[in-house]
Amino acid sequence: MIKHKNKILVLAGDGIGPEVTAATTPIFNFLNQKLGYQFELEEGLIGHAAILDQGDPLPKKTLQQFEMADAILLGAVGDPSYDNDPSLTVRPEQGLLRMRAHLGLYTNLRPIKVFHALADASSLKPELLEGVDILFYRELTGGIYFGKPSMRQAGGTKAIDTMCYSKMEVRRIVVKAFEAARQRKKVLHSVDKANVLETSRLWREVVQEVQTTYPDVAVIHMFVDNAAMQLLRDPRQFDVVVTGNMFGDILTDEAAQLAGSLGMLASASIGARVGVYEPIHGAAPDIAGQGIANPLATILSVALMLEHSFGLSQESEAIVSAVEQFLEQGYRTADTAVGSTAPEFILGTSATGKKILALLDQIFTKATQEQCVQFEFDKKS
Ligand code: IPM
Ligand code: MG
Repeated sequence: MIKHKNKILVLAGDGIGPEVTAATTPIFNFLNQKLGYQFELEEGLIGHAAILDQGDPLPKKTLQQFEMADAILLGAVGDPSYDNDPSLTVRPEQGLLRMRAHLGLYTNLRPIKVFHALADASSLKPELLEGVDILFYRELTGGIYFGKPSMRQAGGTKAIDTMCYSKMEVRRIVVKAFEAARQRKKVLHSVDKANVLETSRLWREVVQEVQTTYPDVAVIHMFVDNAAMQLLRDPRQFDVVVTGNMFGDILTDEAAQLAGSLGMLASASIGARVGVYEPIHGAAPDIAGQGIANPLATILSVALMLEHSFGLSQESEAIVSAVEQFLEQGYRTADTAVGSTAPEFILGTSATGKKILALLDQIFTKATQEQCVQFEFDKKS
């Protein structure tokens, strides 16, 4: 990649968002100072933080910043002050949903990778989890999240949301999932509720149409209730999974438990020009401001950004290796520590970021020593 200036818009957002995004700054500094890239970080407002400052969860200024950004790193959006007050019509999550629609981010990539060292942090039996590596393709700009009408009726005594999908909306994400399946194990699970919902029957029809172009990929159609059960019964049967917006929201939180903690899971939202990279854990207001939040999901989101927005696969893989080494050396964050973790191995948010940086530095120093001409590290596989 040509090492020209790349602008990263950091939308720290709410709750633990500012802490976990701050923990990635040393990584960008490393990329700039040691590897010669020119990533420039700029901060912007979204969510509750934006409502407090501008009265709008996605202010005009942030929309303008989107135009200049080459990639966006998002912390978290949400605040408990809204949870039990349905009368509030301006809500933090609207910022997130409007951003997804505005940027055309119809593909939400959520990799569920179980790090060997963390198998004991999950509530599931470790032998079920060894080797779990699932790539979720969640549709992100359609379905019941965006269908109209969505409103109160009958003087407020009834409410309606609308689940709506067009063939085009289904096809474009399904094609992406088939492409990924072709590069991986050539098995695609498509999750729907075609025994009940018309949108799901349309979904299944499109998957069958697209399948004719990918005869090398085996397709398994699964109802969402069964998929929820199968994820816990035998998660290794899944490789690439494609599903609609709401089913994907629910199943990926469930699948997060396979990885030991929601604090480990990164995501990439891509579509039109600029991608958004974010941890899937949310604002976690109960631990915000304490410096104990797990920044690994955000750090892994930076790895996804380097790969998908900048084509920097080696740097991306190095970050994933650094996280692997961190865990293998016994370090944990509060959410992944178990009873036997010694207190000195439980690191806070910024200490975790610094440790990852040190490991990254080691990985690259070793790689330069081994390869004079070109980096080609991590050949262990
Ligand atoms: C997610 C979140 C969001 C969603 C919320 C915060 C609106 O749960 O990204 O999974 O439902 O999409
Ligand atoms: Mg969710």
